[in-house]
Amino acid sequence: MKVLVIGKGGREHAIAWKLSQSSRISTLLCAPGNAGTARFALNVPISDSDVGSLLEFALHEEIDFTVVGPEAPLAEGIVDRFKEVELSIFGPTKAAARIESSKSYAKGLMRRAGVPTALAEIFRDFELACAYARSLAPPVVIKADGLAAGKGVVVAETTDRAIAALRAQMIDQAFGESGETVLIEEYLQGPELSVFAFVDGQRVSPMIAAVDYKRVGEGDTGPNTGGMGAYSPPLDVLWNDEVERSARHDIIEPVVAAMADEGCPFVGVLYAGLMLTSDGLKVIEFNCRFGDPEAQVVLPRIKTDLLELMLATVAGNVDEAPLLVSTDSCVGVVVASRGYPDAYKTGLPIAGLEKVEDDVTAFHAGTKLDANEETVTDGGRVLAISATGETRQDARGKAYAAAESISFEGSFYRSDIADFAVR
Ligand code: AMP
Ligand code: GLY
Repeated sequence: MKVLVIGKGGREHAIAWKLSQSSRISTLLCAPGNAGTARFALNVPISDSDVGSLLEFALHEEIDFTVVGPEAPLAEGIVDRFKEVELSIFGPTKAAARIESSKSYAKGLMRRAGVPTALAEIFRDFELACAYARSLAPPVVIKADGLAAGKGVVVAETTDRAIAALRAQMIDQAFGESGETVLIEEYLQGPELSVFAFVDGQRVSPMIAAVDYKRVGEGDTGPNTGGMGAYSPPLDVLWNDEVERSARHDIIEPVVAAMADEGCPFVGVLYAGLMLTSDGLKVIEFNCRFGDPEAQVVLPRIKTDLLELMLATVAGNVDEAPLLVSTDSCVGVVVASRGYPDAYKTGLPIAGLEKVEDDVTAFHAGTKLDANEETVTDGGRVLAISATGETRQDARGKAYAAAESISFEGSFYRSDIADFAVR
């Protein structure tokens, strides 16, 4: 089969790497891919948000199966467009992708399905939103309704900060249309989990969970990022039979059933961002795709052929390729570029990549090949060094040994990924 992976980050490198282990693939392509995917797949210079050109390319090249990594093309309706011309593609339709692209839709869906989540009120009017924010005891959580590249959530410690966040989103349009509607949400506390399942419209595969480290600094300090590291499986205190049962029965299954009942069945990977509160599991958000950097620690643990699993999912029978997960642990450490998550340099040569050992994978998150075919930085998160081991400590030791051997000007990483202290 000729298979196309859409995206250019660490998540897409991990998806393509896992797919490359499938014997049924004759040609693997990535659009646009990065220096990491270029090592084993064919990079095609089409942006992951250029749905029209991707469609044209897939038709012209007779691509048998397309896998979409990021949320933006899903929210644009890439799956609908491919299906209209009978191209097989993995991911939710535009309507189903609203579970991520519209937080007000997701809230309403959870309400209708009886799924536990933070209480929220939805506003389109700035003055009404401010009046409501003033009536609450801080902290309050302000969320832009639409996609905002992971930056649309403000946990406001004071009422003034809440008003400033509302102004930035609703008046100054910091996220364009995405912030015309906002949610003002109850503040919840507790450790967070990222839970993934393959969903075929009706049925839900076994779940696989990870812990993501969102803050840039050690000890969870500093601004939020796209994720500075992750590990899987989470500690037993966070993810055990009881929590898993609750995630399935109280959250994922009711939401999947409600979407099917309402005529927009979800097909793809459903990602539930959950918080383990003193009151049980609650949904922080849903995403309609794999997490990044969670994919880099979840996919190495999956034993099932990823292509078979994805094909079974889109064929409407996820049970046909049962998801088997190894008991090994996987730890991923993101190596970022000085300045991230704010401004950073690009085009910096990366040294030490060839030193990475066999059971460690340096997934490329923001890299490209320069004119001399050298690997240089091309993003704020540059690499996710992912290592597997029998124990978490084992995996952690290997990931950090590899992270230490890789460097570029201004490279840095958090040294406390998968180090406990329970979180
Ligand atoms: P998101 O961009 O939706 O992943 O949210 C970023 C982070 O904001 C989450 O990982 C949480 O740590 C935090 N957050 C979101 N909603 C809430 C909430 N209702 N209460 C407390 N923290 C929240
Ligand atoms: N790691 C968070 C996300 O992928 O949204």
